[in-house]
Amino acid sequence: MKPIVSPEVWDRLRGHSDPPRPSLTDIAKSTGTDKWGVHYYTPHYERHLEHLRDEEFLLLEIGVGGYARSRQGGASLRMWRRYFQRAEIVGLDIEDKSFVDRPRITTVIGDQTDETVLRSIIDRFGVPLVVVDDGSHRPRDIRATFERLFPLLPDGAVYAIEDTQTSYWPEFGGSEDRHSRDTTMGFVKNLVDGLNHEEFLDDDYEPSYADTHVRAVHCYHNLVVIEKGDNREGTNKHRVLRKRYGFSRDAAS
Ligand SMILES: C[S@@+](CC[C@H](N)C(=O)[O-])C[C@H]1O[C@@H](n2cnc3c(N)ncnc32)[C@H](O)[C@@H]1O
Repeated sequence: MKPIVSPEVWDRLRGHSDPPRPSLTDIAKSTGTDKWGVHYYTPHYERHLEHLRDEEFLLLEIGVGGYARSRQGGASLRMWRRYFQRAEIVGLDIEDKSFVDRPRITTVIGDQTDETVLRSIIDRFGVPLVVVDDGSHRPRDIRATFERLFPLLPDGAVYAIEDTQTSYWPEFGGSEDRHSRDTTMGFVKNLVDGLNHEEFLDDDYEPSYADTHVRAVHCYHNLVVIEKGDNREGTNKHRVLRKRYGFSRDAAS
């Protein structure tokens, strides 16, 4: 007789259960990406992306790896493919990395800042739900790519920027001035301020697209994870700052 319990409970009652699935870190170790070992990104990624593990969606990673060296690279694309068993994985690199292609992995040649390339990826594969920028690591490129790609993503999208240490390295277009607004972390700090743009007091402030569409910014060592979503909750500043806004006590209560 069939029991009236879910298949998972039935399996547990019979002592059958699936073996635990490998973590993203386990998979990273076996594919050899530097997202674990050189850097320690995979637990952070798993925290932000685990909910998509069994979903069909498009992940775009900028930077396939190996640079101009032939037949080198692709470790992280293979990692994503094994972790997300139903996702389509697209890798963009300035070099030809087509040797990495296989079912559910396609590589595209192009510059990450080239709007035509980014749009052609979307025309061909659809809109990504996850973007990982592990490309040139140059602040100017990172900012330009974000400004072109982020507005095209849906709410709920996750946009990661790796290797933000280059912010502090002039050799990569960064700056030794930690307060510079021109570096990747300077750009990220602006996004963080933008989370609170409704609290700014300058009347003529025009919210940017990022101000109104970045819902969260998570910063880790050398990694930033940005969540897309509506960021217009409203403000209580008119009520709290009564004197400034000339609000009457009665009206405010
Ligand atoms: C750090 S590697 C990527 C490593 C790979 N994501 C991984 O985790 O295994 C960076 C890659 O970005 C590519 N790249 C550099 N500048 C680029 C640009 N402007 N547009 C696209 N790709 C670029 C390089 O050719 C190189 O293969």
